[in-house]
Amino acid sequence: MGVTLGIDIGTSGTKTLAIDATGAILASASAEYRCDYPRPGWSEQDPELWWQATRSTVKAVIAKAGLKPGDVTGIGLSGQMHGSVFLDANGKVIRPALLWNDQRTAAECAEIEARAGGREALVRMVGNIALTGFTAPKVLWLRNHEPENWAKVRQVLLPKDYVRYRLTGTYATEVSDASGTLLLDVANRRWSKELLAKLDLDPALLPPCFESFEVSAQVSTIGAEATGLLVGTPVVGGGGDQPAGAVGNGIVRPGAVSATMGTSGVVFAHTSEPGFDPLGRLQRGCHAVPGAWHVMGVVLSAGGSFQWYRNNVGQSEVEAAKARGVDPYFLLTDEAALAGPGAEGLFFLPYLTGERTPHFDPDAKGAWIGLTVRHGRPHLIRAVLEGATYAMRDSLELIREMGVTLTEIRLSGGGARNALWKQIQADIYGQDVCTINASEGPAFGVALLAQVGTGGFSSVPEACDATIRVVETTPKDAKVASFYDRAYPIYRGLYVDLKASFKAMGELANG
Ligand code: XUL
Repeated sequence: MGVTLGIDIGTSGTKTLAIDATGAILASASAEYRCDYPRPGWSEQDPELWWQATRSTVKAVIAKAGLKPGDVTGIGLSGQMHGSVFLDANGKVIRPALLWNDQRTAAECAEIEARAGGREALVRMVGNIALTGFTAPKVLWLRNHEPENWAKVRQVLLPKDYVRYRLTGTYATEVSDASGTLLLDVANRRWSKELLAKLDLDPALLPPCFESFEVSAQVSTIGAEATGLLVGTPVVGGGGDQPAGAVGNGIVRPGAVSATMGTSGVVFAHTSEPGFDPLGRLQRGCHAVPGAWHVMGVVLSAGGSFQWYRNNVGQSEVEAAKARGVDPYFLLTDEAALAGPGAEGLFFLPYLTGERTPHFDPDAKGAWIGLTVRHGRPHLIRAVLEGATYAMRDSLELIREMGVTLTEIRLSGGGARNALWKQIQADIYGQDVCTINASEGPAFGVALLAQVGTGGFSSVPEACDATIRVVETTPKDAKVASFYDRAYPIYRGLYVDLKASFKAMGELANG
């Protein structure tokens, strides 16, 4: 049993880590990159950035941990889900990838539903309704809007699978990420020939689909030269960042759910059956655990709203943090703590890139509502943290309504690293929340999958049991939680009141 690497291709950066056979993290490294928003509602990235970040972080981890290339016995890949990388016959990228938070495909979602024979028929085939962020509508968008590019397309890959291709020369994916393409028959864990035919898409556009722990390919000579890894090192299927993060949080049995504040915010629950909801209120998919599935609700800009605040409004805190050598987010939350729960009646809607769960509305917009002369920066920041958390509660409520067992909420991502945000989460969710020993989420999850795939553990739950434990619980404050119970319906009502205006504002912005 050796060392495995987990590589997570995120939206704002790539993180790579190495673990040993006991799950101990030996070293980690990350590299940031930019995301482009060429038009309102569009979100794109150059796949080359992912590959360069993978190269530099793999080299950095090998050096930091003092590893010899031969010490690495397996690799797991994770990444932002749903993104579309379009490749030509020579495996060259045709245009920048369209990302999970891109909202340009409303017409294609309607087209898919119509071709499928209605929403319920679509859910029967692939487990989900058509959402603007999913991959299939992006493929149709290319066909409808960029026919010259479409004529060149021979392969469509998800972000982490593009990195697999650069590392191994092999086209492959796995069931958990493939679930977010809208082209996988989630119940049967294989591509949906039925929907592909209805959409008039050639199945050869899609790579072979593995289980997440299975070895899918080996590092090629070119991949080895670029990273310092050994030729032939096995690369397991891995997982979409949310299912992989769930493995990294030990969400591999019914009971515990995770609440992850990354750029997106995700509430994720394990299920033992694929399930069927004709309304498609939550995303359903294969879990990165064989024979298991998941439901999840996705807030498109949760941590992303806080990041937006830091970048655009919080410059003075960023500078002060630089001077003091501390993390700007900690200065911002210290400031937010000066405002009490509810920020004196100020609300924030975190719909900066539209919203997925529960509104499925690409036109939704962000907003502070309820400003008075008494409000200052602490209130603005606290309202952002609370708004992102109310949005997460929307998903949690849906999971509760569906009768999914929910005994424990495990926090991860940025929202798990900050005392104030942890308390806000416990109080808004109305339930104690906990954090675990492993805070590296998806990268850790796929490093564990690589251990399973190369014989280190006999199953994914066994790997999680051996390596993951709860280390801290943040109890809810009953008084504050009941205050938030009164505030939450007001938050819910604001979207309903503003829905039509959001659409009109979007039309105005697009000329
Ligand atoms: C999940 C989703 C996001 C991305 C970005 O459905 O869209 O969480 O995976 O990380």
